[in-house]
Amino acid sequence: MTQKITLLVGSPRKNKSCNFLVEKAIEGIKSISSEFEINKIFVGDYKISPCTGCNKCLREPYECPLAESDDTNKLEKEILDSDAIIIASPSYFGSVSSQLKVIIDRSRPWKMNNYKLKDIIFAPMVAIGTRNDAAGGVISDLINFAIIQGMIVIGALGNPVLDQNIPVTSLQKYTRKEFLRKNEADELAGIIASNLGKRVAEMVTLLKN
Ligand SMILES: Cc1cc2nc3c(=O)[nH]c(=O)nc-3n(C[C@H](O)[C@H](O)[C@H](O)COP(=O)(O)O)c2cc1C
Repeated sequence: MTQKITLLVGSPRKNKSCNFLVEKAIEGIKSISSEFEINKIFVGDYKISPCTGCNKCLREPYECPLAESDDTNKLEKEILDSDAIIIASPSYFGSVSSQLKVIIDRSRPWKMNNYKLKDIIFAPMVAIGTRNDAAGGVISDLINFAIIQGMIVIGALGNPVLDQNIPVTSLQKYTRKEFLRKNEADELAGIIASNLGKRVAEMVTLLKN
């Protein structure tokens, strides 16, 4: 059976830094095999309402009343049968984007209904503006989501001395006022994102066959 890898562009902006990371991860996945089903999702395409805390999802049938009037069912169809999920989030004040936060909160029924995301491989990626932003807040938001949902969290494995394990792309270059120009890419973050795609593809092959 074809294995499905879902990648979420977690920014409302479709063709910017989060999309760059996702495209690089897809390159990495394809370098392992062309057989994977690659499912790219823009969170901005889904209208998901914020959780109201009604707690209806705690009890059978573990459904959210808001799902009747938003895109939750459409999102479920895209996500729940994935073998791996990669999320690229921008840093918004050191946390995930509001679109992603709403999706994370509204994923609670999936947990309550016997961990529907259990054993799906998960990997985080982050886009920041200024180079010294605390990307760790975004990373921990994403990893917490994955762990609470029973997913298997992995990172990139590249050169152990030169390459980090979680892709973080920054718009700011080396000095305070030096930023990436239009059509210029953060090459190192691209390498790490591609390594992440490879690692996810390898782990999907290893664990899901
Ligand atoms: C509401 C908002 C808050 C932001 N907060 C931060 C921040 O705290 N630190 C930072 O480095 N960048 C911050 N940024 C910049 C984004 O993280 C950065 O532009 C990133 O590349 C956005 O991803 P995108 O290009 O895929 O949209 C913020 C942007 C917005 C719109």
